[in-house]
Amino acid sequence: DLSTKVAGLSLPNLLFNASGVCCQTETDLKLMIESESGSLITKSATYEYREGNPSPRYLPLPSGLGSINSMGLPNEGYEYYLNFAKNYDYSSKKPLFISLSGLSLADNVKMCEAFVAAELPCVLEVNFSCPNVPGKPQLGYDMEAMESALNVLAPLIKKPFGVKLPPYFDIAHFDTAATIFNKFDNLVYVTCINSVGNGLAIDFETESALIKPKDGFGGLGGLMVLNTALANVNAFYRRLPGKQVIGVGGVTSGKEVFLHVLAGASAVQIGTTLKEEGPTVFARINKELTDIMIAKGYKSLDEFRGKVKTL
Ligand code: DHB
Repeated sequence: DLSTKVAGLSLPNLLFNASGVCCQTETDLKLMIESESGSLITKSATYEYREGNPSPRYLPLPSGLGSINSMGLPNEGYEYYLNFAKNYDYSSKKPLFISLSGLSLADNVKMCEAFVAAELPCVLEVNFSCPNVPGKPQLGYDMEAMESALNVLAPLIKKPFGVKLPPYFDIAHFDTAATIFNKFDNLVYVTCINSVGNGLAIDFETESALIKPKDGFGGLGGLMVLNTALANVNAFYRRLPGKQVIGVGGVTSGKEVFLHVLAGASAVQIGTTLKEEGPTVFARINKELTDIMIAKGYKSLDEFRGKVKTL
């Protein structure tokens, strides 16, 4: 049994897409609906449509260790996703998550207001961690700005909602961020982690950066970020009692999903591997996780969630 609950909603299984992958257009989102995912989340929306950065802007790394991207927030504009949410079949058993990534607090307020006014059973996730808009630092790394944003957005959203976080690398940052999140009762989950920001991939032969935007700098994903992801999932699992964590980062098989749940994840998202393999990845990894649970004698995720042992 791979079922789980997030933000009070039931998911038939714990897997879905990492926001940004297979979720910009209705065509992408339809593939997610038809897949064996347990849920789906939309591409981070801005107030207006954005073309995004010039290509190449995403590449799997030749090392096989992961991917690099600097997409630059290409999206259809929030009204497109609001319309999708209005037409979504909520009886389908897959809850719908909507990612919002306003370029300013004012834009986040306007977008949240529009979704709140529509009174839909989808869950809002505010993205505090988009690293790829030149000139815009991530809110997730500015603790005071993040708290100010939550002071405005949490009461406005009223319902349970989540935030998408960048990876943190310092214990004091886990402590400070968790203390802030614990002040907001309707902030019911955090999604950890967004890409590890501003890596650089260089081709050995041509001596050139691999992607075009930002002199080749971009967010890292895939297997190389697994341990950073597990640390962030577990750090927030330990510090946010009564809240939930969605794990994302480094999933290539059922084994990494199992590790995310041991670290404390209530659901697990797939980014790079979904991008490379396509939506059939969900059927494969659900099967792999089921086989692992049978081999280990676990019947439900609750039996091992957060139960990582320490020495
Ligand atoms: C983009 C990347 C992110 O990591 C994110 O959270 C939002 C948008 C992007 O480049 O499109």
